[in-house]
Parts: sequence; C-alpha cells; structure tokens
Amino acid sequence: MKIETVRPIGSATSLDECPAGERPEFAFVGRSNVGKSSLINLLTGRSGMAHISSKPGKTRRMHFYRINEIWDLVDLPGYGYARVSKSEKMRFNEYVSAYLQSRVGLKQIFLLVDSQLPPQEGDLGFAHWLDQCNLPFSIVLTKSDKLSGSRLEGNAALFMRELAELGIEPVSRFVCSAKAGLGRAELLAFIGGMLPAKTKKRKASTVQLGWMKRGGSS
Ligand code: GTP
Ligand code: MG
Repeated sequence: MKIETVRPIGSATSLDECPAGERPEFAFVGRSNVGKSSLINLLTGRSGMAHISSKPGKTRRMHFYRINEIWDLVDLPGYGYARVSKSEKMRFNEYVSAYLQSRVGLKQIFLLVDSQLPPQEGDLGFAHWLDQCNLPFSIVLTKSDKLSGSRLEGNAALFMRELAELGIEPVSRFVCSAKAGLGRAELLAFIGGMLPAKTKKRKASTVQLGWMKRGGSS
C-alpha cells in the first residue's frame, strides 16, 4: 500500500472527544516506551508525525490520523509507566478500554511487545484482556534491530508459547524495527487486506483505466 496522505484528525482522553469513527480503524497499543509512536512514523513515512521520546510516558492522549482518506490509525498512550500516579493510570485504563470496546470500525489492534525482553506480565495481561473482550489483535515485536536473529526468534517464540498456554491465539504476528525500517511492508499489506472491497475495487478500476489509456485507440 502506498501512503499518499496522512493528516491528524484529533486527539482524545475520553470517548466523547474521539473523532467520529467513520473509517476502518487500526489501533497501536503497548507498554510505555515500546515504540508505538516510532512505528507509526515508520508506517506513515512521516518522521515527525507522532511524538517520540526516550522518556517513557510521552503519549498521554489517543491520537487519530487519517491515511489516504480511507482508513484511520490510532496511537494510544502506553500502559505500565511506573511514574504515573495511580489515579492517572486508572484514568488511562478507563478511556483506553472504553475506546477499544466501543469503536465499531476498529478492525485490528496491534499489541506492541519489546522483542528484547522475556514475556512480561503486563503484556500477557493486556493480551488476556483483549482476548476476553473478543477484540481482534495481532502481536508486533518491536526494536528487532537491537538483538540477533536467534535471540529475536527465541523471545518471539517464548511470547507466543505463553499466549498459547493461556489459550490465546492472536490474528497474526509481526517483527519490526522502526530504526532499521523493518516490517513496514508486511504491516501495510495486512492492513490493506482488511480494508473493505469497495476501496480495493476502486483501485482496480483505476489500474484498468490506466491500462486502457495506454492501450491507445480502441
Ligand atoms: P510512549 O508514548 O511513552 O508510550 O512510548 P512509545 O511506545 O510511543 O515509544 P516511542 O516511539 O516514543 O519510542 C521510545 C524510545 O524507543 C525512543 O527513544 C525511540 O527512539 C526508541 N525506539 C523506538 N523504536 C525503536 C526501534 O525499532 N529500534 C530502536 N533501537 N529504538 C527504537
Ligand atoms: Mg508514544
């Protein structure tokens, strides 16, 4: 999928503040500092679109971006940031869980997991909650540039095995690195495959039109 246009369409800390969910939506969630905003910048090809910081807890609001005027991408605040007050954590849980449970256009949640770490309670717990809510989600292992191929595969396999032991089967699994530009094509192809047929049909007829034009006189 080619990213032609990206524009912010709003940010929110409550359901009421969310922009109208009128397009297929794809949300990115995960522990604070796991690389959500970096991955969104990689996917959109806009390095300054989502704010990145080496300090955890940078993204505090839910940020919505419209892509190619066809689908929406959502950068969610990270969970598990120790230096956030208990009441603020509860507030986060409230609005992020309300958002995830109520958006009818939400096609897929990408749960980002740091590939450098062994399975973390917080990530497994979040996956368990998504599963209990019957929400479709995929695992995205981030920062793959930071470790060797065999360690990466080892950590990935361990995480998937722990999920399987809990009876959880994510829709898909991706490996990516915002730093090395890895995983972009796979994620965009997956998202493209989940967009409604109308969008794809429109694309097909454009291609045909181009071919017909090039074909010349008849
Ligand atoms: P919060 O908004 O605080 O929840 O964080 P986030 O999940 O949006 O993470 P963010 O994208 O801000 O990245 C956190 C840190 O990890 C930054 O210092 C990034 O430069 C770094 N980082 C993100 N992705 C990668 C990656 O693929 N490889 C490496 N080496 N570093 C990365
Ligand atoms: Mg962020």
